[in-house]
Amino acid sequence: MARRWTNTLTHDDVTPEAAWLNRRQIMAGMAGLGLAGLAGIPARASGDLEPTDYDVITQYNNFYEFGTGKDDPARNAHQLTISPWTVKIDGLVDRPGDYDFNDIMSQMTIEERIYRFRCVEAWSMVVPWNGFELKDLLDMAGVKSSAKYVAFETLHRPSEMPGVRVPALQWPYVEGLRLDEAMHPLTMMATGIYGKDIPKQNGAPMRLVVPWKYGFKSIKSIVRITLTDQEPPTSWNRANAQEYGFYSNVNPNVDHRRWSQASERPIGGGVFAKRIPTLMFNGYEKEVASLYEGMDLAKNY
Ligand code: MTE
Repeated sequence: MARRWTNTLTHDDVTPEAAWLNRRQIMAGMAGLGLAGLAGIPARASGDLEPTDYDVITQYNNFYEFGTGKDDPARNAHQLTISPWTVKIDGLVDRPGDYDFNDIMSQMTIEERIYRFRCVEAWSMVVPWNGFELKDLLDMAGVKSSAKYVAFETLHRPSEMPGVRVPALQWPYVEGLRLDEAMHPLTMMATGIYGKDIPKQNGAPMRLVVPWKYGFKSIKSIVRITLTDQEPPTSWNRANAQEYGFYSNVNPNVDHRRWSQASERPIGGGVFAKRIPTLMFNGYEKEVASLYEGMDLAKNY
């Protein structure tokens, strides 16, 4: 299936500003050049987007349902059962229902996207995700014209999630996007990392990835998606509304109440790794700034 957006990507567009790729397109290009034998080489968006090591991406995590320590998810998430897995899609849609994860996958186009990932805690990684555009899933359910927002919910299963036995957050973990954000071609549902099924600690079998927003918007292990006309509640906003807004766009000019957001620490570079400047909208300004035209980004943090 041809991708409307990625088909427009030329070699010259593959810059740090447009730092995401459709690996299949690249592979197709390589095959055309007789380079199919290089298919094992990861696609690189640019020199400055060196993907973080797999072991780092999968062992330094935030997934409070499995504990609040960075290594708790990798240690505890093996307890999670992910098969069978159904995602309820309801609210303002034409075809509400319980969608089986495997049925969803059979209808989606899986791509690789190498995205910057910036946590609100001021650390960052570069992750080669595999997955599909959220828009394709929403189109499958048929979004009604009255819908304005999308609400997401993580599984809540105390028997397999030791972290939910303590009230670190109000469970289940919930998140939300404005509909135009959800429909944006950069917004994806990740189902893999480095070409492998996404590990449980990273949000198996399906987690949101919104690369221009702080990482906590990228809700993991999703079991419900609800189309609504009201701005949905979000877990971190509920926990501390002064510090975590609904939008949470990466913005080096709007500091967190307790620390600067002007720079970030790349994880995996060792303790002496230099901090690097944080980019407006995490480097995706060209693609997403128009979504927020006329909005006061300091107020709508
Ligand atoms: N989703 C759920 N359900 N629970 C969580 O605790 N943590 C968020 C986000 N999604 C979280 C979640 C935060 S704070 C971040 S930074 C990212 O997941 C971390 O994703 P990673 O572990 O894959 O790097």
